[in-house]
Amino acid sequence: MSRPRFIARQFARPSGFLGRFIAMAMNYGNASMNAFAVEKLEADATDRILEVGFGGGVTLPSLLEKAGFVAGVDRSPDMVARAKKMFAGAIASKRAEFHEGNVETLPFLSETFTKVCTVNTVYFWPSLDVGFEEIYRVLASGGRLVIGFLPKERMDLMQLPTDVFTARTVEEIVASLTRTGFGNVRVERPESTTAWCVVVGMRQ
Ligand SMILES: C[S@@+](CC[C@H](N)C(=O)[O-])C[C@H]1O[C@@H](n2cnc3c(N)ncnc32)[C@H](O)[C@@H]1O
Repeated sequence: MSRPRFIARQFARPSGFLGRFIAMAMNYGNASMNAFAVEKLEADATDRILEVGFGGGVTLPSLLEKAGFVAGVDRSPDMVARAKKMFAGAIASKRAEFHEGNVETLPFLSETFTKVCTVNTVYFWPSLDVGFEEIYRVLASGGRLVIGFLPKERMDLMQLPTDVFTARTVEEIVASLTRTGFGNVRVERPESTTAWCVVVGMRQ
C-alpha cells in the first residue's frame, strides 16, 4: 500500500503542526546520510557553504562548526522560520542566513559559495538540469557540490506517490551534473549501506 499523500507532501514541503514532527523525524531518519554528505564536503573555516532544502536542519550544527559561513535555502516558510529561531545566535554574528526559496532561482549572486550540499531534495525538483545549472551559477570556480539521495531502485520499494516524489537513478544524476558542466563526478557510499549514496561534483 502506498503512503498517504498528505504525509508525502509534508516531506516535500513541511508545514504547520505536522511539519514540526516531520522535521524531527527527518532529522532522526536521515542523520547518517546527512553526516556522510557533510563529511564529503570536507569543509573548513575558509568555506562559505550553501545548503539547499535543509528541512529540519540536521546538518546545520556541524556545518556551522566547520565552515566560516553557512546559508540555507528551503521552499518551506515554516522550515526557514524554524532555522532562524534555532540558529539566531549564528545569524546575529553574521555566520548564517536562511532564506525561503527554490533551487531553480537561488537568491544569491553568482560565485558566492565555495561549497553546496543538498540531501533528499532531488525527488522534488521539476528539472535536475535547471537545479544543477543554478547551483553551478552560485558556486565559485573549483567549488564542490555534494548531493545525498536514495536512488530509484530503493525509492520504488517505498511506493511513494509519483505526483509528489520523482525517483532519480544514480545515472540520471551523474548525467545531469556532467551536462551542466560539473567535472570529477563520483558516486560514494559508506561500507555500512547499499541503500543510499552521495554524488560529488566539482565546478570547473
Ligand atoms: C525530504 S526533506 C529533506 C530535509 C533534509 N535535507 C534531510 O535530508 O533531512 C526536503 C526538504 O527540501 C525542501 N525542498 C524541496 N524541494 C525544494 C526546492 N526545489 N527548492 C528548495 N527546497 C526544496 C523541502 O521544503 C524540505 O524541507
